[in-house]
Amino acid sequence: MDKLEQKIRDEGRVLSDTVIKVDSFLNHQIDPVLMKQIGDEFANRFADAGVTKVLTLESSGIAPAQMTGLTLGVPAIFARKRKSLTLNDHLYSTTVHSFTKNQSNEISVSKDYLSSDDTVLILDDFLANGQAALGLMNIAQQAGASLAGVGIVIEKGFQDGGKLLREQGIRVESLAIIDSLADQKITFHKEGASV
Ligand code: G4P
Repeated sequence: MDKLEQKIRDEGRVLSDTVIKVDSFLNHQIDPVLMKQIGDEFANRFADAGVTKVLTLESSGIAPAQMTGLTLGVPAIFARKRKSLTLNDHLYSTTVHSFTKNQSNEISVSKDYLSSDDTVLILDDFLANGQAALGLMNIAQQAGASLAGVGIVIEKGFQDGGKLLREQGIRVESLAIIDSLADQKITFHKEGASV
């Protein structure tokens, strides 16, 4: 997605060979116009998949998930990382380990909002090692829901998540794939090249 790649080039800050900061439009401040275009793009790519729910993980997945749900005309659900006062034990839960942040979170979704009637599109802001996507897939599985696929705003192609998911036959649609952050330089995956 050209507009997204341009935004990453213009505003992304390479923090190391493995981490890029995109706080100005995705992870802290949100660019709603770009987010709407991102939602339209995911909705277009998964138009024929029969999606009934978009499922993400708080917090940075919420904006693109909401916009995708808006265009598809379906609800967006975010898994919570903390148990809320009003969430009880009527939950699907699993543990997600983040290698980037070196922490584990128990993530949960209320049983009220996912069922075996649903076809789920999993969305997230970043795909690194794939642990968040696998956790969300586990939750969809607990609900007996079908999986339409996984939509990712920025995939870090030099980490294993994309390979891990695609090897399982899961449809992964990433709007921007970064092949390298070496030497402070952002190198995008060439369209059409294998991932
Ligand atoms: P994984 O799910 O693919 O295994 O990824 P990982 O655990 O490594 O990443 C955990 C968190 O770090 C996620 O945010 C993810 O979005 C973020 N992240 C990973 N790589 C990068 C990067 O290069 N740049 C930025 N900006 N973020 C990265 P989170 O803990 O869910 O936080 P948030 O959603 O509340 O922002």
